[in-house]
Amino acid sequence: MLGFIISFIFVLVAILLLRQDWANITVDAPHSTVPPARLIIKDELSLYTGEADSKGLYLAILGQVFDVEKGMKHYGPGGGYRFFAGKDASLSFVTGDFTDTGLTDDLSSLSPAQVVSLYDWLAFYHKDYEPVVPYATGRLVGRFYSESGEPTEALLQVEAALEQGRRLKDQALAEKQHLPACNSEWNAARRGRVWCSTKSGGVQRDWAGVPRKLFSPGSGRSRCVCVQNSSMLENPNIQEYEDCPPHADSCPVRE
Ligand code: HEM
Repeated sequence: MLGFIISFIFVLVAILLLRQDWANITVDAPHSTVPPARLIIKDELSLYTGEADSKGLYLAILGQVFDVEKGMKHYGPGGGYRFFAGKDASLSFVTGDFTDTGLTDDLSSLSPAQVVSLYDWLAFYHKDYEPVVPYATGRLVGRFYSESGEPTEALLQVEAALEQGRRLKDQALAEKQHLPACNSEWNAARRGRVWCSTKSGGVQRDWAGVPRKLFSPGSGRSRCVCVQNSSMLENPNIQEYEDCPPHADSCPVRE
């Protein structure tokens, strides 16, 4: 019995010591099916730069922390992307601005489409790298996660922009299928022609359509799209080319 009690105390002390070593704060998820997240503060993250005396090699994106030790050649000392190590520089994943001011997690300047590409980077880290604790993502306390590991208002805003960006991307994709871009060619005198075929604008289809100008509302600018049927001609943003018969599949244009 005494042996059992001593072993029990030993295991308990070992667990407590381990927990202290792993994190400044550890928070249990509210639901037992969701693994606990390890919370990290900025100062601690800054120690993970991959330098000889550092604790390891981490980076954060959208407040989620990844162990990028296996990408040492990119993020470690001397690597082409070493400036990502030990911090959350989410903005620069989209802007490509790797200066001190560019390496920030302030995303307020991003458009919804840019937020979508930032989340593509997040998906890349989930796929190619390990979260800092098996089965649990590390979270950086700061702009995106509160001290209790809850999403902040800033993260909720970015997630709303992500939704909007994904919707716009889906709409653009549907429009591309519906109104594919025309083929075009130009000569030195800036005269050219636009025409439709069963493969134009990167869309393979079983119809060719006829060239029309599609105006983007508010900008006054137009681009050539292939229109399949006359019902679309009721769209006020779609106009015929001057000097081109309505059913011609090729029209002369001037830049
Ligand atoms: C917004 C701009 C850019 C960002 C944020 C970016 C970011 C990154 C990151 C994070 C990696 C490492 C990926 C990993 O962990 O495996 C990487 C790798 C790489 N990037 Fe970029 N990159 C950018 C632009 C470019 C450009 C313009 C080029 C080429 C002209 C380029 C060429 C490469 C190459 C060749 C690798 C792989 C290097 C290797 O395997 O040794 N990147 N990039």
